[in-house]
Formats: sequence, C-alpha cells, structure tokens
Amino acid sequence: MNQTPPSEHESRITIQGVEIALGFPDEFKFEWIGQRDVMDQLLAAWLVIDKNDIPLNPRLVGKPGVGKTTLAYAAAKQINKPVYIFQCTMDTRPEDLLITPVVDKSGGIRYVASALVTAMIRGGVCILDEANRMSEKSWASLAPLLDTRRYIESIVAGLKVSANPEFRICVTMNDDASTFEIPEYIHSRLQPQIFLDFPEAEEEKRILRENLPFLDENIMDYVVSFLQRAHASNENYTIRDGINIARYAAKRISSLKGKAEAKNLLRQAIIMTLGDEALAYISDEN
Ligand SMILES: Nc1ncnc2c1ncn2[C@@H]1O[C@H](COP(=O)(O)OP(=O)(O)OP(=O)(O)O)[C@@H](O)[C@H]1O
Ligand SMILES: [Mg+2]
Repeated sequence: MNQTPPSEHESRITIQGVEIALGFPDEFKFEWIGQRDVMDQLLAAWLVIDKNDIPLNPRLVGKPGVGKTTLAYAAAKQINKPVYIFQCTMDTRPEDLLITPVVDKSGGIRYVASALVTAMIRGGVCILDEANRMSEKSWASLAPLLDTRRYIESIVAGLKVSANPEFRICVTMNDDASTFEIPEYIHSRLQPQIFLDFPEAEEEKRILRENLPFLDENIMDYVVSFLQRAHASNENYTIRDGINIARYAAKRISSLKGKAEAKNLLRQAIIMTLGDEALAYISDEN
C-alpha cells in the first residue's frame, strides 16, 4: 500500500488506479504565546523516537476560546509541516471525512480528498477541529487510522489509503454540553489528553497585544483585569471574548473621538459582548 507522496504543487494523485483531487493547506499567522508546557507536550506526542515507534494522536481539551486550535496550528508550524484543518460538525458524514465523490462538468465522477486524507497523503498535520461534534458513525471510519495500522478505507472510492510516515493528527474538543459522547474505542486511540487552562494575566495581556497590536494600553489592562476576575470565579469567559470586547471598545472609542468616556464604552462593550451577567466581574477600580 505504499504510495509515493505527490510534490507540493501537484493537486491530484492516483492511488490504486483511482485519481483523487487533493486539498490545499490552511495558511494563518497564528502564534502561540506563553504556556510552553502544553506546546512541549503536544510536540512530544508527535515525536517518533525509533524506527519501531509511531506518533501518538493527542487530544486538546478545554473551554471554548481557550486557544486549542491556535496551539495545534502553531505546533504544526513549529515543526515545519503544512496544516490541514477539518472542521467537524454534527452533520459530518464518514465520506466527508475521507473522500467525497463529486459530479464533474462532463457528468463523470471525480473523487476529492478531505483535509484529513490530503494531510495523510502529503505527510502534513491534520487538525480535526471540535471533533466531539461528530457522531459515532463518522468516528468509526477513523479507527484504523488512529492505531498502529495508520490507514483509512474509503468505501465510496473503493480504496485503502495509508498515512505517509510524516503524517500527524491532533484532535481538539470543547468541554461544552452540545456534543456527542465519544465511543470508548476512540477515546483510547486519542491519547494523550492535553488540558488547556486560562492564561496568567501577563500572558493574557501579551495575547491581546499580539491579536490587537493597535490597542491602547489602558483598554488592554481593563480587559485583562476583567478576564482574570472572571477566571478566578471559573466563569467561561475566554481570551476570545476579551479580544471581541477590546476590539469593539476600541472601535467605539475611535468613532466617538473623546465624546464619551472610555470606561463607559468599555463597560458597554462587555455588556454587549457577554450580557449583563458579566457586570459582576467589573471592578470599581477600573
Ligand atoms: N496562548 C495563545 N497565544 C496566542 N493566541 C491565543 C492564545 N490563546 C488564545 N489565543 C487567541 O484566542 C482566540 C481563541 O483561540 P482559539 O480559536 O484557538 O480557541 P479554541 O480553544 O480553539 O476555541 P473553540 O473551542 O471555540 O474552537 C484566538 O484569537 C487566538 O488567537
Ligand atoms: Mg477551536
């Protein structure tokens, strides 16, 4: 089942006589700031330390917006691999994950590889993002890929595709309630679990600065102290909420040009982003 990987510029490959169109990598400027430990854990899981060794399939777990997708992407870039993100949903079908038949202009069938299969063929990294939104049926098709066999079987295209030895996978999962239970045989194939927690104040400020480099220092301090108070109460507000609050407040402050007090606009941005409940975490000192 050995396949020669296509060159970076080739957009199709023939496997067992079947031509398959490949996808393109995702290109973002995601940088990982702070929390070195989780980055090291992820990179170690992907390492291959002997000719008889294989990489692990780590799972990043944490609240929405805590940085799971960003970490997986930044780690893949750190080891210079192309990254292919597959966004999982409740409607993801097994063939969407693997190879989909598409009717072409001449009425014939064309086979198109998913982000996952493209990463397997090219030897890149696949991020199965928000994977616990997927049903058990879709997970089942991944069982051989996630153990020592490292292949998938596409029923639709009638093919087995082996993963390139350079292929790595990382699965991200939210711990919110609107998701499926993952079957035990899949849980045991998605190890280790790496837990992401809220960053410290100083790191949170650096993350805000990285995302919004034009932001005024006072807005940044205000938002960070709001977030830290919310984290201390184990509230689900994350850096993504902080970025949205700060971005909106900065726009309002800029558009009103001194006609309203910045603090009031920040307060308003918090309410408009997170609702009245968030007022509990605004301190009088701000
Ligand atoms: N350590 C970090 N370094 C850089 N950016 C970060 C970090 N943590 C969070 N962010 C920023 O916070 C935002 C949310 O991060 P991300 O989308 O990775 O979270 P997530 O955990 O994948 O969320 P979801 O569960 O909703 O998919 C992004 O804008 C990201 O840039
Ligand atoms: Mg994400």
